[in-house]
Amino acid sequence: MSDRKYLNIEYKNILVSEIENGNGLSVGLIRLNRPKAMNALNVPTMEEVVTTFENFDNDREIGCIVITGNDKAFAAGADIKEMAEETTIGMLLKDQFARWDRIRKIKKPIIAAVSGYALGGGCELTMTCDMIIAAESATFGQPEINLAVMPGAGGTQRLTKAIGKARAMEIILTGRMVSAQEMYEAGLLTKVVHNEIYLEEAIALAKDIASKPAIAVQLAKESILNSMDTTIETGLELERKNFYMLFATEDKFEGMNAFIEKRKADWKHK
Ligand code: CAA
Repeated sequence: MSDRKYLNIEYKNILVSEIENGNGLSVGLIRLNRPKAMNALNVPTMEEVVTTFENFDNDREIGCIVITGNDKAFAAGADIKEMAEETTIGMLLKDQFARWDRIRKIKKPIIAAVSGYALGGGCELTMTCDMIIAAESATFGQPEINLAVMPGAGGTQRLTKAIGKARAMEIILTGRMVSAQEMYEAGLLTKVVHNEIYLEEAIALAKDIASKPAIAVQLAKESILNSMDTTIETGLELERKNFYMLFATEDKFEGMNAFIEKRKADWKHK
């Protein structure tokens, strides 16, 4: 039985909840909750977010994770007020973006549900997630150039990999705001939906994924992410090993036999 105390704790900068899913494992939901600061991602907020991702990941009753903000802002970036007086040595010692690497280790899928602004570190946080569902009025961008800095939490890498050098270069070097539709057409987003239903859609997608056999979901996510960082040979090798590994799960036998017997599979997630 997982330790589920984290679900009942009060957080300073986020709201954490579990959404039950009649059809499978639950969905873990994080809402960024600094509305007066447009959900700017200061260090305490990021610490709460990353620790909660880890708690969801360790919780066997959670199958998929959603992170959202409010209708006005997913997050308007790293906290400029926190960084305004910071120096190079201060940044190095604090190594504030190191905690972002912990997000890459999360094994369960994470969906960003975006409305309003997803700028700078906010845009980077959406790109650290596995899928992005956006409201049609959502605005993305990497405006750091206007502060005489540049993306520091993965933007130059993930945006470029997602939408290509030519478009990433123009977006990062001008710092302009980019509409959800443009980002969708460029390939950054999973889906753009009407403003009223962005969170509902993200949760529906998360519930669907959480109803699938969890080990297969986890290894498929790992294999897809691996494709971004490696050669085709290494990627195919990991894919094959993960595929073979799934033949060690009870769910594999259940899934294939349920198909043959024309009945619904009863997943054990093991
Ligand atoms: N950090 C700290 N505070 C922020 C913030 C941020 N990134 N973004 C907004 N806020 C604060 C504002 O200072 C303001 O606070 P006060 O009421 O105390 O003045 C409050 O949120 C509301 O913001 P605005 O009055 O500016 O609201 P608006 O509707 O006029 O504009 C906005 C909204 C276009 C998002 C504008 O706030 C803005 O441009 N924000 C900054 C965006 C930005 O530059 N992000 C990049 C940050 S650097 C970074 O992220 C580095 C990295 O790679 C990790």
